[in-house]
Amino acid sequence: FPIVATEELVPRVRLYRIHAPRVARKAAAGQFVILRVDAHGERIPLTIADWDAAEGTVSVVFMEVGTTTTRLARLKPGDVIADLCGPLGNPTEVENFGTVCLMAGGFATATIMPIARAMKAAGNRVIIVVGARNKDLLFWRERLAENSDELIITTDDGSAGRKGVVTEPVKERLERGERIDRVIAIGPSIMMKFSSLTTKPFGVKTIVSMNPIMVDGTGMCGCCRVSVAGQTRFACVDGPEFDAHAIDWDNFMARQRTYIDEEKRSLEICRC
Ligand code: FES
Repeated sequence: FPIVATEELVPRVRLYRIHAPRVARKAAAGQFVILRVDAHGERIPLTIADWDAAEGTVSVVFMEVGTTTTRLARLKPGDVIADLCGPLGNPTEVENFGTVCLMAGGFATATIMPIARAMKAAGNRVIIVVGARNKDLLFWRERLAENSDELIITTDDGSAGRKGVVTEPVKERLERGERIDRVIAIGPSIMMKFSSLTTKPFGVKTIVSMNPIMVDGTGMCGCCRVSVAGQTRFACVDGPEFDAHAIDWDNFMARQRTYIDEEKRSLEICRC
């Protein structure tokens, strides 16, 4: 799978456009791919940020954090990725809900774009709320504005938009009695957990896209399990999107930390 183009969106966050025509033909908002950098690499899931069926490409966005993403970041246009499997998972449920609020934390800004487009096309009023630590970590502001009716930016340090976290503008609106028919929150686990806690008292249906460790991506290994309404569900085939209010967040976040020591050791070796 040749890399057609690469772009550094902000420091350590890259967008890769990859030639994968059969994946591009079938991709839909909310789905993901699993790739291996080379024949000995681990398999990592990445949400599809965009696709072009005519050109035969899919775009993924990743942050350089661990061994695999560090090795991925060393590749250049013309280099190839050994395996790219997809599109996997269920597409986002899209219909005319009314007012849809899309909340994105960190580089999930890229992954909400296809959902925003699809929700707009279905006739929804789309509010996008993007949160970042500071202004240097924001990207695609114009594209987000084009694909929404309202764009709200929050930064932890107040260097762009309003100072504070991504949940605050949503909470204020709900407290004022403004109608929001559906929330979709995508980002780090802690951000999705607090988005869920924000909307729960108001009974607003809230969907999150879960990002557990995955291996096969086809429902066989069980490592992507998530506890939803007291039942074990597999994010790769039952998700990746679930009802945020039904998720056991503490269990999920503890499972995400399972291999932290091994991941650190692996990264040290990788950087040698
Ligand atoms: Fe193996 Fe989901 S990744 S069951």
